[in-house]
Amino acid sequence: MKRISLSEYLLQQERTQGGVGMHLRQLIESVGQSCQSIAHAINQGALAGVLGGAGSDNIQGEAQKKLDVISNDLMMQATEWGGSLAGMASEEMEHPISIASHYPKGPYLLVFDPLDGSSNIDVNVSVGTIFSILKCPAEADPTDEKVFFQPGVSQVAAGFVVYGPSTLMVLTLGHGVVGFTLDRQSGSWILTQPQIQIPEETQEFSINMSNRRNWPAPVVRYIDECLAGKGGVRGKDFNMRWVASMVADVYRILTRGGVFMYPADAKHTEGRLRLLYEANPMAFIVEQAGGAAINGHESIMDVVPKKLHQRQGVILGSKKEVELIGHYYQQHQ
Ligand code: F6P
Repeated sequence: MKRISLSEYLLQQERTQGGVGMHLRQLIESVGQSCQSIAHAINQGALAGVLGGAGSDNIQGEAQKKLDVISNDLMMQATEWGGSLAGMASEEMEHPISIASHYPKGPYLLVFDPLDGSSNIDVNVSVGTIFSILKCPAEADPTDEKVFFQPGVSQVAAGFVVYGPSTLMVLTLGHGVVGFTLDRQSGSWILTQPQIQIPEETQEFSINMSNRRNWPAPVVRYIDECLAGKGGVRGKDFNMRWVASMVADVYRILTRGGVFMYPADAKHTEGRLRLLYEANPMAFIVEQAGGAAINGHESIMDVVPKKLHQRQGVILGSKKEVELIGHYYQQHQ
């Protein structure tokens, strides 16, 4: 069977759907290249001395791992020179990152979490990279963080990579969701999932149960009903999974359905996950795969950001389940 590479897929999309001009193609390919370098660094692990803490904190006050810093540098270096970007912002940097003055500028903004789930690094569990691509408004100053305050519906493309047993990239350009597997021998991303679709119903949920005492009532209700199993109102048994790497949990949901929740709660009053580079790209992907993504009260992608590192409650996955949880929030109000 003929193998379709990421470059070929992007060209095909340009020919059939339009909208994937040279700049967007170049940018996504560069992101793919930086993720290959990140995959290599993760794979080397202790052999390359990249495990453990970096001895610094990021803007959210979280202790940075060496690989957080390495991945952030690799992503910046791979993407800034190509002439596709006006600016970028990262979980690891307090302010937007300026593109070096000697590089040409382009029309896009790149927002990313270079190493999602990095607390899993030292225990050899899957981690990932999440990215979102926005248009930079004409005449706007991309070093001003306000240019990034665009709702998720404005995203041009979004994707994530899982560094797991295989290295996988999930991508949406707004016309469905596809998946690529990294062929380490040829150094190419090969299309392996031409159409990712989330089943509408599920028997699996994903939440950090240790936060139960802090959850809002609608979440307690939904989870208690799942836990009641066959004898309860849902009339079926549910299973639970929590990897604590959003990329791995969302990839599982894209593959076999399920619902992922990190709601705003009494401890994380604005939510725990970041809107611009975690919630929005994942919401775009999940909705393009036929699922739904809400913060409890509204669609995540309708939220207009007010801060670069804004947090957000996240409930996403199989459509009927997410709608049921949204209904419980409405009833509770
Ligand atoms: O910061 C993001 C993240 O690591 C996600 O990838 C993951 O879903 C979540 O945090 C895990 O949080 P906790 O450690 O509270 O379960």
